[in-house]
Amino acid sequence: MTRRLQIICSYIPKGKTFADVGCDHGYCAKYALDNGLCEVAYITDISKASLQKAETLLKGEIAAGKCIPVCCDGLSGLDCVPDCVLIAGMGGEEIIHILSDLPLPEKFVLQPMKNADKVRAFLIGRGAKISTDHTFYDGKYYDLIVGDGAGGDTYSDWEIAFGRDNLKNPSPDFANRMEHDREECIKLLQNTSLSRESREEILDRKKRTEAILNAITPDI
Ligand SMILES: C[S@@+](CC[C@H](N)C(=O)[O-])C[C@H]1O[C@@H](n2cnc3c(N)ncnc32)[C@H](O)[C@@H]1O
Repeated sequence: MTRRLQIICSYIPKGKTFADVGCDHGYCAKYALDNGLCEVAYITDISKASLQKAETLLKGEIAAGKCIPVCCDGLSGLDCVPDCVLIAGMGGEEIIHILSDLPLPEKFVLQPMKNADKVRAFLIGRGAKISTDHTFYDGKYYDLIVGDGAGGDTYSDWEIAFGRDNLKNPSPDFANRMEHDREECIKLLQNTSLSRESREEILDRKKRTEAILNAITPDI
């Protein structure tokens, strides 16, 4: 397992039913079962070929009735919403699409590849309580959003944009990401053929990134 998956899996809470949505190899479901974090793990993937990889890894657990493979879009092929739903390695809009048509699960572990801000706004709008929301680095910067489907929470616009733990308790990984974003903005601004609108957007991004760096750097 990669460090990314180890970090994500370390946030899986204990429950009865667990779903590894977009499971691909099925490493997260395997981790949950091996570590006694669930009694039954659903593995779902929209791609038959991907699901087959997980079916190979989890052959014994499937034969024992502890793992249930379903080839479907998100959770659409399941007859219940599992206690904990893990969705990792997908775009934020795809994650929202998967969670939209159902009540939120009791617990969720989400690792959007992009549009983490949209995922946060969606979760808060649906009454979720977010307990972990931070950036970590494993060759790339990743956002991890963990919480409960109920309980309610309020997020400021900055927390929606950057992640609450990143602002309240900034890590070196997050500071490095902000520095990386700032440098990217500087590079983009060197392009003389940018439209006025794009230039203003990048300048605004740079300004916000610098404001965060100014606020968090003494804490690192
Ligand atoms: C990049 S892989 C991530 C695999 C694993 N979750 C991880 O984090 O390493 C994305 C997987 O999600 C699957 N996928 C994409 N959209 C999906 C959807 N709407 N429902 C179920 N699976 C989906 C893809 O087929 C692929 O196997």
